[in-house]
This record gives sequence, structure tokens and C-alpha cells, in this order.
Amino acid sequence: MSSDYIKSVVKTVPDYPKPGIMFRDVTSVLEDHKAFSSTIDILLSQYGNMGFDKIAGTEARGFLFGAPLAIQMGVGFIPVRKPNKLPRAVISESYQLEYGTDTLEVHKDAIDKGDKVLLIDDLLATGGTISATANLIRNLGGVVEHAGFIIDLPDLGGAARLRDNGITPFAICEFE
Ligand code: PRP
Ligand code: HPA
Repeated sequence: MSSDYIKSVVKTVPDYPKPGIMFRDVTSVLEDHKAFSSTIDILLSQYGNMGFDKIAGTEARGFLFGAPLAIQMGVGFIPVRKPNKLPRAVISESYQLEYGTDTLEVHKDAIDKGDKVLLIDDLLATGGTISATANLIRNLGGVVEHAGFIIDLPDLGGAARLRDNGITPFAICEFE
């Protein structure tokens, strides 16, 4: 199954969450078994042989793709969560979002120094979320050089921002 098929399954919702936004809804990929499983296959062929120790996925939709990919790659999965959700000691990072500001947290003991960590999220917009995630993992001694997405919105400049931050992005499809 091709990336064109996965792109064709993504539903676009005009004027959500506010007028003028064309919202690319990745939940339609989850609802289609062929699209969902081939998404994981494509990410596995992209990243499966690169020697990653762990995958970190950002709340909420990064969990949905990062966790099944971690199983396929035979590595652990680290949830990077919104504030006050994780029970053990955390470190926090605030960041700008396309629609405001937010904070992410990760368990301090989730990363061992030198761990090679792949970041996974559903969608790359401005890159704020994944940059904050990379800062968290790096602050704990992890090595972050790659981030994988289902969708990139290139007009929002996230890929360039990530490259400036030493992260190579990969996305299965793009929407203008
Ligand atoms: C969305 C999306 C990415 C992020 C991309 O998540 O799932 O995580 O925005 O935007 P950026 O590249 O500009 O940072 P959102 O913050 O809406 O959270 P949710 O997944 O919990 O709904
Ligand atoms: N879809 C889903 N999440 C998003 C989008 C979008 O178009 N833009 C920023 N986060």
C-alpha cells in the first residue's frame, strides 16, 4: 500500500478548530486498517535498521503511531505528555503551538544517557511540539537526530525548523 493511498484516506475538515484552518484529520487513517498498517510498515522500513534504542511519542496522536511502531521495531515506547499526567518525577518544557502555547513532560528516568531516540508524531506543522520533545529528551542525555510523521504541512515551516535544530524529518505525505 502506497503513501498516495494513505494521503487519500486523510479527511480534511474546513474551518476547524477556527475559521480559515483546513484541519487534516489523521483519525481517518486509524479507522482504515490498510492505511493504518501500511503507515506503520512505511515507518518501519524508514527507521527499522537505524539502531534506535527507544521511540518517544507526543500526546495524544503521537501515541497512536509511535507505540505500534515501537513494538514492530522491538524497542521501548516513551510517552511525552501534557502537564500533570505522568506519575513519576518529570522534566517540563513549554512551547509555542500553532493555536497557542502548551507544556510537555517526560519521566526523568525514561532515558538512559546516550540512548538513540526516534521521535514520532502524527503531524508536523510549525515544529514547536517536536522541538520541545527533542529538548526534553536531549536534556535527559538522549540523542535525537530523526523525527517521523504521517503528515507534513510544509507551508508552516516545521521541517526547516527541525533541520536547524539538528533533526532530520520524514513524513509519509504532505498537504499544502
Ligand atoms: C497537534 C499535532 C502535533 C502538533 C503539531 O497536536 O498532533 O502534535 O499539533 O503542531 P506543531 O508542529 O505546530 O507543534 P495538539 O497540540 O493539537 O495536541 P493533541 O494531539 O493532544 O490534540
Ligand atoms: N491537523 C491536525 N493537527 C494539527 C493540524 C492539522 O491540520 N495543524 C496543527 N495541528
